[in-house]
Amino acid sequence: MTQTETSERMAAKLAKRLYIKSYGCQMNVYDSARMAELLAALGFIVTETADDADLVILNTCHIRERAAEKVYSELGQIRRMKGAKAERGGRMIVAVAGCVAQAEGAEIIQRAPCVDLVVGPQSYHRLPELLARVSETHGAGVIDTSFPVEPKFDFLPEARARRGIAAFLTVQEGCDKFCSFCVVPYTRGAEYSRPVEQVVTEARNLVRGGAREITLLGQNVNAYHGEGPDGREWRLGELIRELAELTGLDRIRYTTSHPRDVDDELVAAHRDVPQLMPFLHLPVQSGSDRVLAAMNRRHTVADYWRTVERLRSARPDLALSTDLIVGHPGESGEDFRATMDLVDKVRFAQAFSFKYSPRPGTPAASAVYQVADDVKSQRLTELQLLLAGQQRDFNEACIGRILPVLLEKPGRHKEQLVGRSPYLQSVHIAASADRIGDIVPALIKAASANSLSGSLSEAVVE
Ligand code: SAH
Ligand code: SF4
Ligand code: F3S
Repeated sequence: MTQTETSERMAAKLAKRLYIKSYGCQMNVYDSARMAELLAALGFIVTETADDADLVILNTCHIRERAAEKVYSELGQIRRMKGAKAERGGRMIVAVAGCVAQAEGAEIIQRAPCVDLVVGPQSYHRLPELLARVSETHGAGVIDTSFPVEPKFDFLPEARARRGIAAFLTVQEGCDKFCSFCVVPYTRGAEYSRPVEQVVTEARNLVRGGAREITLLGQNVNAYHGEGPDGREWRLGELIRELAELTGLDRIRYTTSHPRDVDDELVAAHRDVPQLMPFLHLPVQSGSDRVLAAMNRRHTVADYWRTVERLRSARPDLALSTDLIVGHPGESGEDFRATMDLVDKVRFAQAFSFKYSPRPGTPAASAVYQVADDVKSQRLTELQLLLAGQQRDFNEACIGRILPVLLEKPGRHKEQLVGRSPYLQSVHIAASADRIGDIVPALIKAASANSLSGSLSEAVVE
């Protein structure tokens, strides 16, 4: 091959465009970043729009019906773009990845024939060979929704790419809890924890690439029990202490936790590790013991409250966030009042609340007593009003305080940046772009429902 031919080939390689869109949780955001890294080795570069892409990947979420349906409306648009590209003599490969891929498999191609490839969350490390098979099969559709024995992490190239100032790092995958309403144990498979050394290496690379904050991810992250360098199983608290040794890593967070797995080690990490941010997302789902039992949550309201107290005595300024479901099968008016009472007692800084959505194959979906949709809507409205008030109170209590803010990106206005407070609030500050990546003291001057605004302060914090 001559040198010109080589560089032409290189150019052709470089011209391949990848459009990748994530739905659902942060684990999908992480997986999308890993897919992009993997495909970069095949010459794909990420593009911001789907219409000129050679490969489109929708990394999907199956958690509620609406999340899953979004994918099909997006595929309707993608089909038109794929047709237009074919008319121009080009080819667009369409892949569906993530939890809808895992749950629906071949059905996706039946419903949306423009899809060439369906790949599950535990087998995307095989994308290069799957794409080669797509080219060979000429439109027959390729499906890989297996749960390989060896974890995908062992096959992915070492993560080196920049993933921003605040990066995600998956340390645990899957779930063995089988809550009555939830698809995750079926779509993500059995629980698995990555070895400590693999996590530390990836964290070090992220810090080298500019990350100052890392959020450790897992569907059930505090069930983490990865193999440590000493051959023992390490729990999440120990892993956090190890990561806190990395120079340049100023902030550590983790999500999502299960109340049952908050052990003493983790509580102690909140007390002792200054890099561990004082904010915790701890889903409770319901405030009624009867409903919690029906949900198979394996904790009571009293257990949850005790856990909150343990955490708050270890770290008095800890802000809590949660997930709540209204209208789980069998939820009575009285059960719902119990949820309102618990929320009233805990006082959350932030929360996500949902109407129960029956998911195929989960036990709750076939329960006899389903709650009527208008009752669910009423309960959700009432709950969200209470939660919004708590969030507003929490945000307003920050006015006048000086908070350390990690500046992450430009804001909507000129000369404005957006960052995060320790409590994960978005903070808008007037500052020039060269401050991105700095942790600055910000005097909080105003609070809205979802964010704060302030100005750079001369005071020294931390
Ligand atoms: N691993 C997390 C939950 C991940 S799913 C945990 O253990 O809490 C994120 C949230 O979606 C859940 O906390 C729950 O509140 C909500 N959710 C899950 N399945 C749902 C369903 N079928 N209907 C409505 N909300 C649901
Ligand atoms: Fe789903 Fe979380 Fe329950 Fe696991 S613990 S089944 S991910 S809600
Ligand atoms: Fe959705 Fe799967 Fe995450 S169902 S919430 S993308 S684990």
